[in-house]
Amino acid sequence: MDNVNLIEHPLIKHKLSYIRRKDTNPKEFRELVKELSGMMVYEIFRDTKLKEVEIETPIAKTKSFIIDEDIALVPILRAGIIMADGVLNVIPNARVGHIGIYRNPETLEPVEYYCKLPSGIENASIFVLDPMLATGGSAAHAITLIKKANGKKIFFVCLIAAPEGIEKLTKDHPDVKIYTIAIDERLNEHGYIVPGLGDAGDRLFGTK
Ligand code: PRP
Ligand code: URA
Repeated sequence: MDNVNLIEHPLIKHKLSYIRRKDTNPKEFRELVKELSGMMVYEIFRDTKLKEVEIETPIAKTKSFIIDEDIALVPILRAGIIMADGVLNVIPNARVGHIGIYRNPETLEPVEYYCKLPSGIENASIFVLDPMLATGGSAAHAITLIKKANGKKIFFVCLIAAPEGIEKLTKDHPDVKIYTIAIDERLNEHGYIVPGLGDAGDRLFGTK
């Protein structure tokens, strides 16, 4: 699983334990998802190349370093938008596209209902965001849409991944690196991740 990067940190494990709990309410759940997404960014950008620039402090000119990259976030609706909020707290200048997909509850196949991507993304680093990688159908479909729009440098960022989803995404898009903070046991007969955290969209927005 060379393309899978499991991000581990005691603070991340602690917060993950709270989003998994069934009695965590939507307000707490949203806050935790944002915090976890922001924390993941530190690890994801660890090896980012920096550009040397000259700046002026109130005292003197000095050489300094900046990230000079076109960064695009593409949350998969619904649940991905709360992750995007967390990432934007850390990278406020990222451009944001949206892809709307839900799973057909019977077939578990992805159903696309919206796609609006930033223009000119061929040179951008594109981060597809969705808390859950279950069968992998939604993520694989979203990435296919981004590739059709000429996106090339694509990363998938989730909170919890099932082995089945990792396998599907790796098979369909071997060039896409996956970042996650947990790899769980399996999917149950309804396509939910075990132990997982339940339905991410419902827990974020209180719809059930
Ligand atoms: C959830 C989740 C992912 C998808 C993952 O969304 O946010 O998008 O399921 O499952 P998969 O890997 O099997 O495709 P859902 O389909 O429940 O849609 P929603 O966010 O609109 O509720
Ligand atoms: N989608 C979710 O929100 N949760 C799962 O466990 C699987 C798919």
